Amino acid sequence: MTCVLQISDPHFGTEQPHVMRALLQLAREQQPEVILLTGDITQRARRSQFAAAARFVSQLPAPVLAVPGNHDIPLFNLGARALNPYGNYKRAFGNNLEPEYESDGLLVLCLNTSRPSRHKDGEVNRTQIARVAERLSRARPDQLRMIMQHHPVRAREQADLSNLLIGHEQAVPTWVDAGLDLLIGGHIHLPYVWPLHGHQGESGRRGWTAQAGTALSTRVRAGIPNSVNLIVHHCDQGAHDCRVERWDYIAEQDLFLPAHINTLVISRPG
Ligand SMILES: [Fe+2]
Repeated sequence: MTCVLQISDPHFGTEQPHVMRALLQLAREQQPEVILLTGDITQRARRSQFAAAARFVSQLPAPVLAVPGNHDIPLFNLGARALNPYGNYKRAFGNNLEPEYESDGLLVLCLNTSRPSRHKDGEVNRTQIARVAERLSRARPDQLRMIMQHHPVRAREQADLSNLLIGHEQAVPTWVDAGLDLLIGGHIHLPYVWPLHGHQGESGRRGWTAQAGTALSTRVRAGIPNSVNLIVHHCDQGAHDCRVERWDYIAEQDLFLPAHINTLVISRPG
């Protein structure tokens, strides 16, 4: 059994200490194999905000993989944005913006979709699409094959169509056909799980995308509490069991509690 915790959009600088405490408690109780931080780690990419994020991460009970979001590049410091956009990020999270994690039951591929040349939009380029597809195609059959990045690839709300990852039309079908099971993202602070399709559409192979809400920030979307995703996977003799549990922060109890479970059908390319 593999358990993975997705924490997205904490926006350090706007983090809430009581929610941080509750999230640390959840992480310690659930003991995930790895924790995935899907961008917008800080509010304004300041050194002090990354330092606060690094202090929080150092208290988590598992290895942490991170990717930058649009907020992790300086917005107002145009010199830093042009010359060293990831300087503060790298000081806290290391030089590799696209790390990889692999174990017997899990493959996680990180993708940097933030772009200093864009304001808030994210983008995937041809080199990234090909690299990830090639790596997916070499995954072992028992592994849950995940991609983590910041921007959504499917919108549930009309208002979020403008937030979709630029290049998703090329990337998603290519990755699903290469074996992608689950792509996780954040950015819009709205949690949901939706299917993804390969080049053959509804009749072909299916993958999934899980969006996460903001884990710690006051920047919640109207009526949507802070939340995280717990991804639980098990493979027995080629049969995959996978679910995405959304855990919401419930203020009255000062705890993260299970709020919704999506069961994913996982298939392997023929
Ligand atoms: Fe965000």
